[in-house]
Order: sequence, then structure tokens, then C-alpha cells
Amino acid sequence: MKLLFLNGPNLNLLGTREPDIYGHESLNDIVDVVRERATQSGMVILDFQSNHEGGLIDFIHEHASSADGMIINPGALTHYSIALRDAITATGIATVEVHLSNIHHREPFRHHSVIAPVAIGQIAGFGSYGYVMAVDWFSDMHQGSKKP
Ligand code: DQA
Repeated sequence: MKLLFLNGPNLNLLGTREPDIYGHESLNDIVDVVRERATQSGMVILDFQSNHEGGLIDFIHEHASSADGMIINPGALTHYSIALRDAITATGIATVEVHLSNIHHREPFRHHSVIAPVAIGQIAGFGSYGYVMAVDWFSDMHQGSKKP
């Protein structure tokens, strides 16, 4: 099973970016943990980070057909990118949306996600552990213990 692992704008700054909100781990640290967890479950991770909406969309177009699902933290694009949402519906890729922080507990403009309605589900507020939860969900679903 192959999963795309996408991170959007400013997530390359994890570790130094508002650590009280986003934690002290770098994105590379997180990708290592996610890849290790996926490998333990016999899955392959293809990771990508971009600060550009189009870069993320191009990556989805290029890789969705060869992947079984996607874990994405769209960063601020969560709140307004209809184009990113359309890339998910256009390719039909099974998507789990993850946020490090609990977006529903923050500024009102972060409460709304345009991605959530086209995602299988949303995980928010568990820090980097949220990505591991998403990996485990894909793994369990693949093994037939859970169905979407
Ligand atoms: C975020 C929440 C977004 O509102 C913000 O723009 C981010 C990070 C999170 O992981 O908590 O860049 O997606």
C-alpha cells in the first residue's frame, strides 16, 4: 500500500515556527516517524512539502493514480483552496486531513476547512501524533478491520 504524505505552506518551518502551537519537531523528524510507522505496517510513504498551491496540486495529479491514499496537512490552504479541494475530488484519492493544532479551538478563520467535506475525515489537535493516527487508520482499513 502506498500513501502520499503532503504538507503545505510554512510547514517546512516546523521546529522553529511558533513551537508553542506546532511543537519542536522539524518536518524531517515527523516524516521519519511517519515513514517508520508506515514501514512497520508494510506501507510505502511518498512525501512532499510545498509552499505553493500549484506545486501540491501538480504532485497530486502526478501521483494519485499510483497511490492508495493521501495524508495531507494543507496548512493555511485548508481554509480557502478550492483548487486543492478540486484536485482531491478530480483524482478521487482517499484523503485524511491532519492538523497539528486544534483548528476549531483557534481564530475563527481557522475553524472552516474547505477540504474536510471531500476528505474521509479530519484529525486535529494531536500534534504530530495525528499523522501516525492517520497511517494506522489506512493500515487498519487496508487489513479490513475498519471500513470508511
Ligand atoms: C495547520 C493549521 C492552519 O490553520 C495553519 O495555517 C497551518 C498549520 C495545523 O497543522 O495546525 O499552517 O494546518
